[in-house]
Amino acid sequence: MIDKQTFREAMSRLAAAVNVITSNGPGGLCGCTASAVCSVSDEPPILLVCINRSSRNNAVLKENQQLCVNVLRADQEALALQFSRSGTDVAERFAGTGWTEPQEDHAVDGAPGSPMLDDALVSLDCRITGSAEVGSHTVFYCTVEDTRFGAPGPGLVYFERAFHAVPASDSSDDQK
Ligand SMILES: Cc1cc2nc3c(=O)[nH]c(=O)nc-3n(C[C@H](O)[C@H](O)[C@H](O)COP(=O)(O)O)c2cc1C
Repeated sequence: MIDKQTFREAMSRLAAAVNVITSNGPGGLCGCTASAVCSVSDEPPILLVCINRSSRNNAVLKENQQLCVNVLRADQEALALQFSRSGTDVAERFAGTGWTEPQEDHAVDGAPGSPMLDDALVSLDCRITGSAEVGSHTVFYCTVEDTRFGAPGPGLVYFERAFHAVPASDSSDDQK
């Protein structure tokens, strides 16, 4: 078996979209940057999000049972950093950017819904419908209940430990 450092080095060559995961509910408001987000099934629509078990966000997500995946644009690198700095409090993370509270009917048991980033490429409002503890991380299985599309534009990916812009295709207007 390879060691942790070798694995991390290998993963640095696997480019991934950058997202801000938000959540609100009985456990309170939380948010963090995550690139470990992947489509699982299109019928029903399910995606997965992997969150480190040592992250403060992990326990809050388990309590809230809902989250929103906000897919970042190329010019939102600063926001990705704001949501990844260890030790920063929740208010600091959400400051300086526009957020929308989703409709009440998307919330779990009348609790506040997960904030949607106003200028995301797309936001996916989800209910957490399963999870698995896998090594250092929890894999959250999330059923998508609502989506909000922003204007098409370049995306943000993380590759070789740095942020990069991925240009939008000319036809991205037609792909919605
Ligand atoms: C580009 C990027 C991608 C990240 N992806 C993940 C991820 O998929 N899962 C995760 O648990 N942490 C990920 N992190 C780290 C978390 O954002 C960070 O550990 C967390 O916000 C720390 O806050 P906390 O310790 O207060 O919970 C990523 C960070 C960056 C910069």
